[in-house]
This record gives sequence, C-alpha cells and structure tokens, in this order.
Amino acid sequence: MVNYVDAAEAPPKNTGQIRLYGPRDFAGMQAAGQLTARCLDALVEIVKPGVTTREIDDFVYGFGKQHGAPPATLYYRGFTKSSCTSINHVVCHGIPNDKPLKEGDIVNIDVTFIVDGWHGDSSRMYGVGRIKRAAERLIEVTHESLMRGIAAVKPGATTGDIGAAIQDYVEGQRCSVVRDFCGHGVGKLFHDAPNILHYGRAGEGVKLKPGMIFTIEPMVNLGRPHVKVLSDGWTAVTRDRSLSAQFEHSIGVTAEGCQIFTASPAGLFMPPLISA
Ligand code: MF3
Ligand code: CO
Ligand code: CO
Repeated sequence: MVNYVDAAEAPPKNTGQIRLYGPRDFAGMQAAGQLTARCLDALVEIVKPGVTTREIDDFVYGFGKQHGAPPATLYYRGFTKSSCTSINHVVCHGIPNDKPLKEGDIVNIDVTFIVDGWHGDSSRMYGVGRIKRAAERLIEVTHESLMRGIAAVKPGATTGDIGAAIQDYVEGQRCSVVRDFCGHGVGKLFHDAPNILHYGRAGEGVKLKPGMIFTIEPMVNLGRPHVKVLSDGWTAVTRDRSLSAQFEHSIGVTAEGCQIFTASPAGLFMPPLISA
C-alpha cells in the first residue's frame, strides 16, 4: 500500500511515505538543481587528458563554497568527496583520486549541491579527448534512455512506465540496464521514497501524482548488467569489465508532465563528444 503525504506535514526522515510538494518547494529544488547544472556545465572545460579526478572534485567543492552550497556527498555515509567520478567500467560511486584521466576515457561526474536544504542531484557523461565510437554510442543510448524515462512522467502514469520506457529502449539497442542501483525521491532528504527502478513493466509500481519529486538516473552497460562493489565499499564496476554510462536529472511531477530542475542553462547536459 503506497501512501502519499503533504511534504509540509511529514517528519524529516524516510518513512516510506511519498511526499507531495508545493510550488515554493519546486522553486527551492529549481535553485538547487540549477546550481548543480551550472557546476556540471563548467566542468565541460575542465575535463581533459591529464586532469585528475581529485582536481575535478576540488573544483566541485570550491564551486559549492563560492555559492554557499555544501555538496551532499561530503561525509555522507562515510563518503569523503564532493562528487562521484566513475570512469569507463565504473558504474557509479567512483571515488575521486590522483590518477590522471587519459585520452579515450569516459567519465560520469555526479554532483549534489544543497541550497536552502534542497538537494539538486544530477550527473552527466564527459568524453576525455577523442573517444571510441562504441563509447560514444553507449553515452548516446544512455542519454536517450533517460530522456525517454522523463517523457513517461505525467500524473496517472506509474514508476513502472518510467522503467519500461528505459529498459525497452536500452535492450533494443543491445545494451543492458543495471538493476543494483535506482533513482530515488529527493528534496530536503538526499535519498527518499520512492525508489525509481530503471527497468520494469508499464502500469506497475507507484502511481505518479503532481508534486512528487525524484531522480531518474539510469546506468547502462555495453555488456552484461551485473555489477560488483570493490573493497573500498563504494566503487561499483561491471563484472564483465564492459563500459558503463549514466545520466541523472532531478525532476518534479507537474499537472502536464514534469519540470527538470537540473536542466543545463548552457544546453550542455549532453556535453559535446569527439569521436576517434
Ligand atoms: N549522487 C548519487 C545519487 O545519484 C549518490 C552518491 S552517494 C555517495 O544518488 F556517497 F556515493 F556519494
Ligand atoms: Co541520485
Ligand atoms: Co547523483
């Protein structure tokens, strides 16, 4: 049994209830989402061969500091960085370190800034110099899968409609959808109900209502969908070491469809890729 609750009247913890937010809350999410989007826009110029993911993470931290916005991942459940940087066969939750990026790498950068208590959670793929055609194709398929998931969002649709739109498209492109991680309710909490699966069947799951706020963040592999988490407790990689990609937006359900809080003001959500 799903139960929905006025966000203004619910306790500030994940009780499994689905919060319904009002216009002022949407404005708060828009401000947080736009700060995150501007940071991800600025990273387009920074991601280059030779740059370390620690330098990227330092930029993210500094960008937040300049705008009075703490990164939600910093000290979150023992994570000690301001971003996740997931390279090549890393699926998600890669930890920034001192290894330089090299020509041909693909990297997902996932950032969440907190503005006035609201969490703007978004990630994109970046190509490092010239990338292989297969990598470019994986990135395009993953981006398109997120956009198809978003297109399924409207009142009366279900979370299963989102998952089915993503899975049907991805598998039709001979790629696979990671099952071990999902999208999530977001707002004053970083991770809240409901879970948004990136696979499933149309009509199943939770019914979408105006005022719901959540992320969609499909992880797509060129090979098999299976992942394992490394001994650092965070870094998730493909078991078959095939390439993996991810895009993430934070969105709110409106009367007509949805509002994308983390849309890129510069039109760089899908950064330009250079094919080898
Ligand atoms: N930003 C990630 C998400 O999309 C969560 C990262 S949690 C961390 O939900 F601890 F790994 F940073
Ligand atoms: Co997220
Ligand atoms: Co994220």
